[in-house]
Amino acid sequence: MIFEQVPTGGCQSYLIGCSDTCAAALIDPEISQIDHYVALAARDGLRVRYVIDTHTHADHFSATREIARQLNVPVIMHRSSPAPFVDMRLGDGELIVLGKMRLQAIHTPGHTRDSMCLMVEDRVFTGDTLLIGATGRTDLPSGDPEALYDSLFERLLKLDPALKVYPAHDYKGRSHSTIGDEIATNPRLQKRERGAFVEMMRNLNLTMPTHVTEALRTNMSGGKTVSQLLAQAAATVPFMSMAELKARVEAQEGDLIVLDVRERDAYEAAHIPGARLLPRGQLELRVNQDLPDPTRRILACCELGYISTLAASTLREMGFQHAVALDGGMKAWRESGYPTKAGREP
Ligand SMILES: [Fe+2]
Repeated sequence: MIFEQVPTGGCQSYLIGCSDTCAAALIDPEISQIDHYVALAARDGLRVRYVIDTHTHADHFSATREIARQLNVPVIMHRSSPAPFVDMRLGDGELIVLGKMRLQAIHTPGHTRDSMCLMVEDRVFTGDTLLIGATGRTDLPSGDPEALYDSLFERLLKLDPALKVYPAHDYKGRSHSTIGDEIATNPRLQKRERGAFVEMMRNLNLTMPTHVTEALRTNMSGGKTVSQLLAQAAATVPFMSMAELKARVEAQEGDLIVLDVRERDAYEAAHIPGARLLPRGQLELRVNQDLPDPTRRILACCELGYISTLAASTLREMGFQHAVALDGGMKAWRESGYPTKAGREP
């Protein structure tokens, strides 16, 4: 078995491969680590054949769909996953064949309805059903403390105590434990009576994870996060530094069109001298009148440097091959004491 554990903040993801056949699976990949997983698989001589989420994550952005698209491999989740992009849905007890290895799904609802654990050889990937010294919470959408009790006490904890436990989270830098260790020391598992366990789970009063709305939206639909959208746009445009632009503005270079894509009130309060106003919301509608020459060099700027990246990317898509974005925004420009002008341009 070839095995890599990739922590991202408190999230844990795993690359597991068969050393005989080089077939591998990614478990609970996180969106910021895509290049890392692909590089690890290449370094280890593995080919990723499957990407698997142990459940619908509410606290981080799953990379399964994006990796599946890049590598042309199937996304695997439990049968009750709401995500429409899942290619292979597993039922309890079903296996994924990974070269000479077998990954067996154990349906363990509770943290979410679609939670499953994956058992392979000497270890079990427990998702958020069982964590080291804790359990997954049951107060997020489709969570159910009664179901978690059954999943833990009737299923998971009845497995071989020597099985290594690899969870989807650890906030203290630990890599794994064992079923036996968890039975002995996990404080939440000391409530062995159903009523007491459920009562404890109902009264944890945990704070909501950050980005829960965006995580559920994107993980359940396969849609993009805001930062993914921005990163994709940024990958298609060159940028110009603020110092470079300042030098060009001061030299009054005529060949560069500075396009301020904010709204009129922001533009009139303070803009880069010589900048033209074309709000992002009107860009496509006014582009033919305002920018008739697609060979011109155009620099898009906005308040923070995000919307201008989208605007420059849109311009490039429409054939403005010399559109660039300002590396920074008007806020940083003003704070640097660079020249601005108020009101309208002649
Ligand atoms: Fe989770």
